[in-house]
Amino acid sequence: MTEFVKLIYGEKEYQLPVIEGTEGEKAIDISKLRAQSGLITLDTGYGNTGSCTSVITFMDGEKGILRYRGIPVEQLAEQSTFKETAYLLIHGKLPTQKELTDFSVLLNDNSLVHEDMRAFYENYPRSSHPMGILSSMVNALRSFYPELLNLEEEINMTVTRLLSKVRTLAAMSYKISRGHKMVYPRPDLAYSANFLNMMFDSPVRPYDIDPVVVKALSVFWILHADHEQNCSTSAVRMVGSARVTLYAAISAGIAALWGPLHGGANQAVIDMLTHIAENKNMKQAIERAKDKKDPFRLMGFGHRVYKTFDPRMKIMKKMCDSLLEKLNISDPLLDVAKDLEEIALKDAYFIDHNLYPNVDFYAGIVLRAIGIPTNMFTVMFAIGRLPGWIAQWKESQDDPNWKLCRPRQIYTGPPETDYVPIGER
Ligand code: CMC
Repeated sequence: MTEFVKLIYGEKEYQLPVIEGTEGEKAIDISKLRAQSGLITLDTGYGNTGSCTSVITFMDGEKGILRYRGIPVEQLAEQSTFKETAYLLIHGKLPTQKELTDFSVLLNDNSLVHEDMRAFYENYPRSSHPMGILSSMVNALRSFYPELLNLEEEINMTVTRLLSKVRTLAAMSYKISRGHKMVYPRPDLAYSANFLNMMFDSPVRPYDIDPVVVKALSVFWILHADHEQNCSTSAVRMVGSARVTLYAAISAGIAALWGPLHGGANQAVIDMLTHIAENKNMKQAIERAKDKKDPFRLMGFGHRVYKTFDPRMKIMKKMCDSLLEKLNISDPLLDVAKDLEEIALKDAYFIDHNLYPNVDFYAGIVLRAIGIPTNMFTVMFAIGRLPGWIAQWKESQDDPNWKLCRPRQIYTGPPETDYVPIGER
């Protein structure tokens, strides 16, 4: 039976239906609110606003739960691979062996990028940030590989192209930034191993593919693969709603992810930890983070949804410890991170504000151990988030009521004012 919320405004009473999700979370459906009452809702930052219903990802910020298509992320991190998780997110179910093999063949067949795209790279200033390059290169893909979006099979082709080529583009950007020749994808290597090889193989020092590193990268990507309606995913859905190409929508998602409050935090954490290690000023960093007049925040701490712990962080921290041990690496930043976490978690400010380390807090140390340079960290996040963006875009595209996203506002500027000619001002 449908529940309703009563809204009394002026002389009138309105009945607003309550909708309920699979896990019991509830929302007031206000889709007819303005038509009926003339009112809109105001929710800066959308903390109380559901922008869609979705069958893809469930997260519970109080209990620290994250599931893709119902499967806990902990199980996927332990038992799945990034490629299989990408299939799960995009197609809505775990693949059979044959489906996974077919998917691998398609990824392999689409892993090259047009040689002419190299010219773009070669003409970017060497100091360009790889996220800016990736965002524009993904948009440029459309000119080389026109989007095919009519039949299910054609959509799958565009989707697979993106998944496969973004990985190649990312590795290419690294090689070119170092002034090295690109390394081509290899048909005998699986998704994560292929990426590592394209990044680190060189004619003078062949890359030794270590299954421990491959597994760590795969888990890193699984942990980032989707996170429901976060900033970049909402950007993909919103830009996509204008019916731009999938490439353009993903390019917008990459640009949004770049920000330091979102995906850019993994790079910002390492910058912060390095600064603390060099200047031995941990206490000062904590005090600055608590000072309202100082814009500094403890990077890798806090989350809009998770208010007790971030389940991805737990897996990442455990993996960070075991990876460094297996690779026999001693990273001084790990000690700084652990000390910082310990102090912050005992501090009343962080306790009262429900601030805990998020996925990005230990992510950078994992990436450093793998050999990824700091300015590529957010690119790594982007490759991981790609299946989520695609799944969310596909879901909105498949919705028969797919609407242009167009929020309203409450205007608080000057009332109607006459134009003053320039000579009279
Ligand atoms: N350090 C110090 N204070 C903080 C922090 C922090 N990292 N995060 C939030 N606060 C304080 C903030 O100053 C505010 O205090 P008050 O209420 O006294 O004015 C309060 O907590 C709420 O902050 P908010 O910005 O309104 O909260 P939010 O839910 O919008 O913030 C956040 C979420 C992730 C933007 C924020 O916690 C933050 O800036 N964290 C650092 C950046 C970071 O690590 N981002 C990665 C997020 S996880 C990866 C991803 O999914 O993108």
